[in-house]
Amino acid sequence: MIRPLPNKDLKNKPIGVFDSGLGGLTVVNQLIRQLPRESIIYFGDTARVPYGSKSPDTVRKFAVQLTRFLQAQGVKFIVVACNTVSSVAMEKILEIATVPVLGVIEPGANAALSASHNRRIGIIGTTATVSAGKYQEVLTSMDADTVVFSRACPLFVPLVEEGWIDSEVTEMVARIYLEPLMKSGIDTLILGCTHYPIIKDIIRKTVDLSVTIVDSAIQTAREVRRLLSDKQLLNDSEKTPEYRYYVSDFPQKFEEVARRLLGQPLENVRRISLDDCL
Ligand code: DGL
Repeated sequence: MIRPLPNKDLKNKPIGVFDSGLGGLTVVNQLIRQLPRESIIYFGDTARVPYGSKSPDTVRKFAVQLTRFLQAQGVKFIVVACNTVSSVAMEKILEIATVPVLGVIEPGANAALSASHNRRIGIIGTTATVSAGKYQEVLTSMDADTVVFSRACPLFVPLVEEGWIDSEVTEMVARIYLEPLMKSGIDTLILGCTHYPIIKDIIRKTVDLSVTIVDSAIQTAREVRRLLSDKQLLNDSEKTPEYRYYVSDFPQKFEEVARRLLGQPLENVRRISLDDCL
């Protein structure tokens, strides 16, 4: 029989975070700021990124593997730091989860509703996220008067994964994607993909100044803090937190972009075979 760990032991376990690649590091960045005593284990599925152009069934299969992998590492809580997975695979993940799990859609939707005055909200995300319409569903269930305008921006993820974070090419792509969205009169724009905060400066330049940009990573980290506190799972040890990063393919690019994003080199990046996640 598997006996659940008493809270006292669970508290000091790491938080597990996963994403299709390096985008979820935007959530890790916020978790480190808002929960500096928590250890984190991150998995970036760099061998199979992007998820956003794959079918829901495939994404669900990957999500189950990564959830199992993190659970096998003994995490106390899982953050699904990928909008695509949060849009299409949460039910599947909850079926197999043995620890609390949080996706990024509800925190982002909440933040957008608090920011919006005219209830015209824009969402940009991967093709899979936009087709799933989860943001739309959650936003209109929270406030039926909300009108949602969405736009898939599939080129952003490969540009970010390649490290083209301040390139003119990325600026041009952003203009092509975002200018039509500006005509819809939105006052709030949700960055519905964890890769997008990495190019937030470019997105900021492209959208009207009056538009509030919602980075769901910030809101997600806040929600993790609230849930851990409610469940009495906040780490109370004096030990220095540990951060471990796993990727499923070459770690070099991941390390390079991560260094720029987190402002320090990552020491513990390990490449593991996907067979270990099965
Ligand atoms: N970063 C992920 C998201 O938030 C997915 C990007 C991708 O793999 O296409 O949707």
